[in-house]
Amino acid sequence: MNPTTPASPFRPVSIGPLTLKNRFIKAATNEGMSTQGVPSRQLAQLHGNLAAGGVALTTVAYCAVSRDGRTLPNQLILERASLPHFRALTDAVHREGGLASAQITHGGCFTFIRERSTARPLSASGGFNKIGMMSGMFLKQAMNEADMQQVVRDFAQGARLAREAGFDAVEIHMGHGYLLSQFISPLYNKRRDQYGGSLENRLRFPRRVLRAVLDAVGQELAVICKYSITEGVRAGNSAEDGARIAQMLEQEGAHLLVLSAGMNAESITTMFGSSFPKENRVQQKNPVIALAMAIQRRMDPVVEFRELYLLEHARKVRAAVKMPLAYLGGAKSLASIEQVMAEGFELVAMGRVLIAEPDYVNKLASGASCQSICTACNRCVAMMYTPGGTSCVLGRPGDARLNSEPAGVV
Ligand SMILES: Cc1cc2nc3c(=O)[nH]c(=O)nc-3n(C[C@H](O)[C@H](O)[C@H](O)COP(=O)(O)O)c2cc1C
Ligand code: SF4
Repeated sequence: MNPTTPASPFRPVSIGPLTLKNRFIKAATNEGMSTQGVPSRQLAQLHGNLAAGGVALTTVAYCAVSRDGRTLPNQLILERASLPHFRALTDAVHREGGLASAQITHGGCFTFIRERSTARPLSASGGFNKIGMMSGMFLKQAMNEADMQQVVRDFAQGARLAREAGFDAVEIHMGHGYLLSQFISPLYNKRRDQYGGSLENRLRFPRRVLRAVLDAVGQELAVICKYSITEGVRAGNSAEDGARIAQMLEQEGAHLLVLSAGMNAESITTMFGSSFPKENRVQQKNPVIALAMAIQRRMDPVVEFRELYLLEHARKVRAAVKMPLAYLGGAKSLASIEQVMAEGFELVAMGRVLIAEPDYVNKLASGASCQSICTACNRCVAMMYTPGGTSCVLGRPGDARLNSEPAGVV
């Protein structure tokens, strides 16, 4: 692209084998709209509405690639029996002229699920499970070669099932503290073998997963990686590390990177660019866990929201690679979006803005609005656990009945 003529956000763009009608992606935001591991009717409707509202590609958050890979009890699982329900969702998106991406994930030691095939939750390294303080699972297990082979197979199979369900893209979750980011992060990865130590070594396992997914579906689906360019804590990866990670993912053949930041447990405000209301914290009956959460709460800094709060970090990635990048983080006005395009990012991903206004892209295109109504208050995050699922507090809550019915049931 000629740097003097920034792309219009309303022009098509290609990522891997896929052509998007414009530059807008709905970022993955766990909707809390799955019932026993399958999409609810409300989830299908929501993504259909997002497509009708103008986004080119809408991301279905948080699809576990195996039962062991779940973090939360009702989380979506990509398995054969769920395919008719996922298909109802992708049909709803395609009917409205949009494309659908499945975010595929494994939680590793960040899990609240007790039933699993291994004695302890898996992670890059074993020992004390700091993040398990919230779930009472205080120990984790280092993955051996057989575990790694299984997880690689699970990601590849998850991607194949996503293709069968009609998805146009898969987004491998490599950020925020889930399994693949437990390998990338020096906060979690203490291994002494070829999978630990240097950044190159810490990327080795995520790269294996990416390669397997590309081999499985990369000819037909766009294969996207979402990761934390900075972890937002002193001992974690910095944006300079984030730029080197991008180079490695580019080398491995990823079609697009979605540039997030922060870790769920250690630096949630880095991810969101604004503080959380205190009442958002889940009440904990176990006193040890409640204490751990209180300590974490005290450590959370007060952060004032500013638009494009991750741009400084993302620029380092932009300078390091040639591949398509999606800017993410606080893009909430036409001016911001145009700035992102002018700085050479091919796409813009948006989370909260599209929770608040699923038709925001159409409003921008028609000139009906330039500035989103979203205040970055983060109250939608706690809504995830309500019967109606994630919704913006400025609008109506979700429909609990629609949210309890599987999408594929007519
Ligand atoms: C309610 C909610 C749930 C989220 N769940 C996920 C998720 O499941 N997977 C993910 O990668 N990011 C998740 N995120 C983070 C968003 O993708 C995004 O990084 C964040 O909202 C910042 O972008 P924004 O400023 O455009 O909202 C979630 C965000 C919100 C608000
Ligand atoms: S609750 Fe609504 S206004 Fe607040 S951050 Fe979420 S989407 Fe934005």
